[in-house]
Amino acid sequence: MLVLGIETTCDETAAAIVRSRPGGGGEILANEVMSQIALHASYGGVVPEIAARAHVEYLDHLIRRALKTADVRLTDLDGLAAAAGPGLIGGVLVGLTTGKMLSLASRKPLIAINHLEAHALTARLTDALEFPYLALLVSGGHSQLLAVRGVGDYLRLGSTVDDAAGEAFDKVAKLLGLGYPGGPMIERAAATGDPLRFALPRPMLGRPKADFSFSGLKTAVRLEVERAGPLTPAIVNDLAASFQAAMVDVMVDRTRVAMRAFREACGHPAALVLAGGVAANGAIRGAMLRLATETGVRPVFPPLALCTDNGAMIAWAGIERLRLGMVDDLSTPARQRWPLDQQGESIHHGKA
Ligand code: KG4
Ligand code: ZN
Repeated sequence: MLVLGIETTCDETAAAIVRSRPGGGGEILANEVMSQIALHASYGGVVPEIAARAHVEYLDHLIRRALKTADVRLTDLDGLAAAAGPGLIGGVLVGLTTGKMLSLASRKPLIAINHLEAHALTARLTDALEFPYLALLVSGGHSQLLAVRGVGDYLRLGSTVDDAAGEAFDKVAKLLGLGYPGGPMIERAAATGDPLRFALPRPMLGRPKADFSFSGLKTAVRLEVERAGPLTPAIVNDLAASFQAAMVDVMVDRTRVAMRAFREACGHPAALVLAGGVAANGAIRGAMLRLATETGVRPVFPPLALCTDNGAMIAWAGIERLRLGMVDDLSTPARQRWPLDQQGESIHHGKA
């Protein structure tokens, strides 16, 4: 099965071609990603209007390049997968409309993909992982712990009640005068900082439900910045290290709680999967690896390029759905909000 995937929900324009392997998992034939970071950096965050315009400008070039790299023609494809949300609506419309148009032109089925589902299923592309498994999805827009039980079958064990984890990294970086995106800057500053210098809160620690909250932690950093007066490099590094240590503690505690809930709902998880841009953080990866080892759960951390937004994960989710006969028609809407546990109406042709 050969599918083209289109991703335009945030500030990455991406197109990829993935083929399913007979034994499970997939082969990425092309994975073109155009990051818009430089366009948004001076604003300190993603500007939706600028993002939508850039998707319009880049997407068709990326699709053409992906087809060329993979040496594939539109008519060779089995389906066209496009992210239909959740995300910035202008961008989602660009990608989904392009997918619809290509589907019309090639007479191949359209598969409308939930962006979060694509993140959650990536470990099956890379590692042919069996269901069910636990996924920690932490990005600039989302923070969730999911029981991934099957294609289209997700149980949300926890999510954030305020900011997303990546958003917290970005906001704290801004407070510390570091650049955008904040996550990598904080990680770099933290490397030489003292994580014990500032006693920052660990929101939600010990709570029985696996939800996240980050706004109190961000406020605590702001108060320390105000108290510190002029920021010296040492203060910045120590605050970054103290903040990152708090984030690590929160992630580990929340994931541990989710694991307990997972066991009650669906037995022992086959794996602990990391996804989303924040999963690029070395301290978080290290702590999650220790947690997985300690709890006897297999750690499956996809490579960084597949943790952040990309087209291959959309193409793969398309393959997963197409295999089950779950396709969509051209009236499928673009969605700004689309909780993973409300998968909506796909057309089931009942092949499986
Ligand atoms: O998944 P992603 O590329 O885009 C979406 O938000 O969907 O995630 C971007 C987020 C940003 O908030 C960025 O600061 C964060 O991931 N991030 C990191 C690191 N690299 C990226 N956070 C912590 N440590 C990192 N090394
Ligand atoms: Zn994402």
